[in-house]
Amino acid sequence: MVAQWFAMNLLESRINLDAIAHNTATLKRLVAPAKLMCVLKADAYNHGAVAVAPVMEAAGADAFGVATMEEAHALLDAGVQVPITCWLWSPTQDPAAVLDAGITLAVASKSQAERVIAHGRGRVVIKVDTGMHRSGLIEDDWHEVMTDLHNSNVDVQGLMSHFALADDPAQPLTGAQVRKFEQAIALGRSIGLELACNHIANSPAALNIPEARFDMVRAGLSLFGEEPVVGEDHGLQPALRWVGTVTMTKPVSKGAGVSYGHTWHAPEEGVIAVVSAGYADGLPRSAQGHLEVAINGQRYPQVGRVCMDQFLIYLGDNPKDVRAGEEVEILGGQATAVSELAASMGTINYEVMCMLGGRTRRVYSGGVKGEK
Ligand SMILES: Cc1ncc(COP(=O)(O)O)c(C=O)c1O
Repeated sequence: MVAQWFAMNLLESRINLDAIAHNTATLKRLVAPAKLMCVLKADAYNHGAVAVAPVMEAAGADAFGVATMEEAHALLDAGVQVPITCWLWSPTQDPAAVLDAGITLAVASKSQAERVIAHGRGRVVIKVDTGMHRSGLIEDDWHEVMTDLHNSNVDVQGLMSHFALADDPAQPLTGAQVRKFEQAIALGRSIGLELACNHIANSPAALNIPEARFDMVRAGLSLFGEEPVVGEDHGLQPALRWVGTVTMTKPVSKGAGVSYGHTWHAPEEGVIAVVSAGYADGLPRSAQGHLEVAINGQRYPQVGRVCMDQFLIYLGDNPKDVRAGEEVEILGGQATAVSELAASMGTINYEVMCMLGGRTRRVYSGGVKGEK
């Protein structure tokens, strides 16, 4: 009985691959007939790209998208079968290896176009800026770059762009960006480019805006079970639980201050427990007061300052007899949800998901089992 309370590692990201398969299949169904590019940048939003890619492929992923060339090579080396696109690079980098490996490279500036054309072969997608004003060709350069690529030996697969405000359905900019993207496609085709596969939609647009889906959507966050628009419910299943360990419990007397700065004082005589996660593991000090963990389904408040390696919870008079060695759901499962913590800290679920790390070990269940 006691043995099963004890965690193997002090701190784990428990990743449910069946939830990821469910979310992938849900997205795939919802956006059809558009194709589904699964975005696996930032190590699959901190879920482990190499582990989740085969699960997504089996569940219907038509393509993978990542930011950097390194991320693209890692997927290729892992044996991914569907096409891979990467879109974040500097013209000081040599695109030869990516292009020769059959990875689709985004061309987002004139100098990137020059590098690719000089290489003389490979597959590209032209990234146009339709209003995000981050990366992507400014409109003044569209004609010249499209023409130069059309006249080269490089294979232009289509256009891509990115929305700035798709997570706020009330914003008119998204519709304006859709129309700008249509103009860019029309321009490219008038120059003679086929542009068979064009994509602009991220998760919020893929889920909510049919006219934004074009030939393919690029979904990231939703595949991991988080809603990109606060309050919506598309039947997605969160894939991640962050689970730590009670390293000790101890009595506190009424009024005793705990942790650095004594910012919290015990309201009654009771028990506190020490949990094995801190800001070095991605739980910011500013999470103080915003978190309720769960032990055997019972919630307990985080109290006092979050330290580098540990934080404290208050067990009251410890009616459930919590002991050292027990597992603690810190985020997800029956604890505070990733999106709840994000909202109370004034940030977004994307950021909370990506910040967990430090001593955390990833442990997978369902799908393809293993530990990364
Ligand atoms: C270029 C690009 N496409 C698609 C995505 C996926 O966005 P989301 O996670 O909202 O689905 C991202 C992520 O920010 C991105 O940078």
